[in-house]
Amino acid sequence: MCAEWAITVGMTITVPAKRVPPSVTGGIRDRIKALSAAGQAIYRLDAGEVDFTSPDVRTPSPTEIADLLNPYGPPLGLAGLREAIVQTRGAFPAGLTVDDILVTNGAKQAVYLALAVLAPPGADVLVPAPHWVSYLPMLEMTGGRAVVVPADRSQSFKVTPEALERAVTPSTTAVVINTPGNPSGSVYTRDELEAIATWANERGLWILSDEIYRHIYFGEGGSAPSIAETTAERFVIVDGLSKAYALAGWRVGWLIAEKSVLGPAKSVMSHTTSHASNYPQLVAERALRDSTYLPLVRHELRERRDALVSAIHNAGLDCVEPQGSIYTFPSIESLYGRSLGGIDIVDDLSASEALLAGGGIASVPGSAFGAPGHLRLGYGRNLAEITAAGERLIETLR
Ligand SMILES: Cc1ncc(COP(=O)(O)O)c(C=O)c1O
Repeated sequence: MCAEWAITVGMTITVPAKRVPPSVTGGIRDRIKALSAAGQAIYRLDAGEVDFTSPDVRTPSPTEIADLLNPYGPPLGLAGLREAIVQTRGAFPAGLTVDDILVTNGAKQAVYLALAVLAPPGADVLVPAPHWVSYLPMLEMTGGRAVVVPADRSQSFKVTPEALERAVTPSTTAVVINTPGNPSGSVYTRDELEAIATWANERGLWILSDEIYRHIYFGEGGSAPSIAETTAERFVIVDGLSKAYALAGWRVGWLIAEKSVLGPAKSVMSHTTSHASNYPQLVAERALRDSTYLPLVRHELRERRDALVSAIHNAGLDCVEPQGSIYTFPSIESLYGRSLGGIDIVDDLSASEALLAGGGIASVPGSAFGAPGHLRLGYGRNLAEITAAGERLIETLR
């Protein structure tokens, strides 16, 4: 599945760049576009974005534009935003300060910078599966090697220190933990995180804690447990505004880490983009300081989750109820042997194709997340769309 990108220099000399797989979700979007253009109604359960009225974003004043937005800003990010992160995050790591935050162009860049530091060529990184689509391509780019550690439905898609211990190699530098998880919707409890932290401490390993869905949590308190609440000694936290704050297009994320990681990450940032763009950072600060917003989005997303999970169960599919994030991850093995829209279902890739062709239902195959036999169905779109998609799913699989 890997595409070998190459540039040709002079006559015939070919310089291979990195082996980076094309985006699966990008391919699905192209298919959807073609079907929509042909007049087919599409139910967008493939979406990885929250459709919600984002927090009020006020226009900057002329003084802010002249003094704050026009000139280069601080390499770590605007001080006001970093202060807002410390004040509003809830669990901010003890001992770290505003100077241990690097604001990035989306959480994606934060993950990449962390891996660039933690996973140079020769290093192994443990990546529990199902996993977000971009960790493996990013490791291809940094030169590190992904060691995938599978966790199935019977384990609620969560790994344990025992499973990590079985996978660890002498070259392992770090483990990636994504909670709440994309695509599983699983959330590690504080005790589970603590057990992983204790194991990582004993092994001297780093934990890359991707907490981009932290505030989309349906359990007590509304924010999922963070690695910052454990005794982990070496960790990097990734967070941002794309999901809970429905501000994906502003591209604001951040990295929280001690200087040994933040320093090199800041150097890469400063030699590539100098810093994240100023205006989105101002918008981000205002969004974070709007304390009325998060409870509203959580309430709404819980309704969407309940509607989709109930439709998935009524359609006869087996699905663990997600405790956070914006995704369900049902098993579709019960569909093998059936045919929809002229497509025989033999695996998750054909199941995704068949649902699209036979019902206009867009999904992402589990293989993209290292977990074949499942589909990711998201509830980020509005309730009316989720309800209609759920009805369509039941009708299509009847
Ligand atoms: C687990 C996970 N981490 C990071 C990101 C990147 O977030 P952003 O859009 O802020 O770059 C995503 C986006 O889908 C994600 O699902």
